Amino acid sequence: MPTLALSSADPSTIETDVLVVGLYKDENGPALAEGAAAVESAFEGFTDSLKTLGATGAPGTVTTLPSFGHVSAPLIVAVGLGKRADGPSTETVRRAAGAAARASAGKSTMTFAIDADSEALGLGALLGAYKFDGYKTTPASERKKPVETVTLLDETANVKRIHGLASAVSTTRDWVNTPANMLRPPQFADQVSAAATEAGLEVEVLDETALEAGGYGGILAVGMGSAAKPRLVRVAYRGKGATKHVALVGKGITFDTGGISIKPSSGMWDMKTDMGGAAAVAGTMLAVAALAPAVNVTAYIPMAENMPSSTAYRPGDVVTAYGGKTIEVLNTDAEGRMVLCDALTRAAEDKPDVIYDTATLTGGQVVGLGKRTAGVMGTDEECTRVKKVGEEVGELAWPMPMPEEIRKTMESSIADVSQTAANMERSGHMLQGGIFLSHFVPEDMPWAHIDIAGPSQHSGEPYGYIVKGATGVPVRTLVGLIESHA
Ligand code: BES
Ligand code: MN
Ligand code: ZN
Repeated sequence: MPTLALSSADPSTIETDVLVVGLYKDENGPALAEGAAAVESAFEGFTDSLKTLGATGAPGTVTTLPSFGHVSAPLIVAVGLGKRADGPSTETVRRAAGAAARASAGKSTMTFAIDADSEALGLGALLGAYKFDGYKTTPASERKKPVETVTLLDETANVKRIHGLASAVSTTRDWVNTPANMLRPPQFADQVSAAATEAGLEVEVLDETALEAGGYGGILAVGMGSAAKPRLVRVAYRGKGATKHVALVGKGITFDTGGISIKPSSGMWDMKTDMGGAAAVAGTMLAVAALAPAVNVTAYIPMAENMPSSTAYRPGDVVTAYGGKTIEVLNTDAEGRMVLCDALTRAAEDKPDVIYDTATLTGGQVVGLGKRTAGVMGTDEECTRVKKVGEEVGELAWPMPMPEEIRKTMESSIADVSQTAANMERSGHMLQGGIFLSHFVPEDMPWAHIDIAGPSQHSGEPYGYIVKGATGVPVRTLVGLIESHA
């Protein structure tokens, strides 16, 4: 991750490889945004040159031009901020900064001559510079390196906060991008444990023996099909002067083959990202350690590899979850809810004020809401809060219902609850997931379940501060939720 620096230098004379300016999309063409007046006066015809190059100021656009010695920076990158009238939204600024950072790859230093929200500029740039190519054997010197230093011309910017957030999101992205052969449950638990311990957090890891002794039937059912045994990691942060306690739960399936209900092979490789919820929850704890909010936060992270084998659980099995409820298994590919139910029950035992769980739970989420909007189910107030915070941080989420008629289909004739609809109904899959989990959350507990099957990763061309692969969603939402309780 690049380092963030602050300066009060004049943008026209600052020593930097790339100077970034903002452009509004005015009626008569692009117009320089606040913060770059010194560039305009040092470089006659600057805005006209940008116009000649086709710059419009539309959000998401990037125009690069040499400075011809008019300013100290050899290269100027102009990023679109959209219509001046609206004022750029925080997310527009984040994305513009991310696009600028991507355009600065291969250079060492970049400086923002944009007078906008410093946190948005800094976060956007640090996240836009993210790159994951850790398994290439070509020397690093032969590869295009992300920009190394990002300078903000605002000495009041909160570097510690921006760094803390960006570093947490980057670590989350790293874990999600790591292939499943390099991150099986024991290794994942070790890595989360090491990172959390280093951050000064309290860590407890339950291995398969401890899980058996504790009766964690859901995690064991999924995890025992693999030679790499399951884990339940608990990470705790105690905030100074805290009165509230927030619990986080994240799905950590390090690889999801579907198990005995095996998935088709075509897209299976992608299931190395099925621990996106776990990685986000662990990343959030690292952010919390850095930001030190006045609230207690505990994370419960179940980790398992869903494999078909002679020790795997089967469709038709009845599994006793942690806490004693019985589940009739119908499809071993609905493994996420099997590990989450144990972790939710365990979380509720510590009597938190609210529980947030997040998981790459259902393909139905992607069908219903697309790849960039998470589905949210739970208590009304918490669903609304997730949507609101998500909008603020630029991680879209939308509340979904848990209708009575679908709840009815999840009744089992032989166990307490059916894992998926007993009539094998495919409709409302995302909702079935939420409804199943609700059976493991106490009646009066404020709770939201965030299904991130789509938003946890990005497969197309990069945009804004989102690059190919893991996005780090919903780390910044979880941090925002935690702070809303401080
Ligand atoms: N990990 C998948 C969900 C998923 C699908 C995540 C696509 C990311 C992209 C989950 O474990 C799963 O297999 N869900 C099934 C549930 C079904 C078997 C009840 C699904 O969505 O089809
Ligand atoms: Mn599955
Ligand atoms: Zn899964």
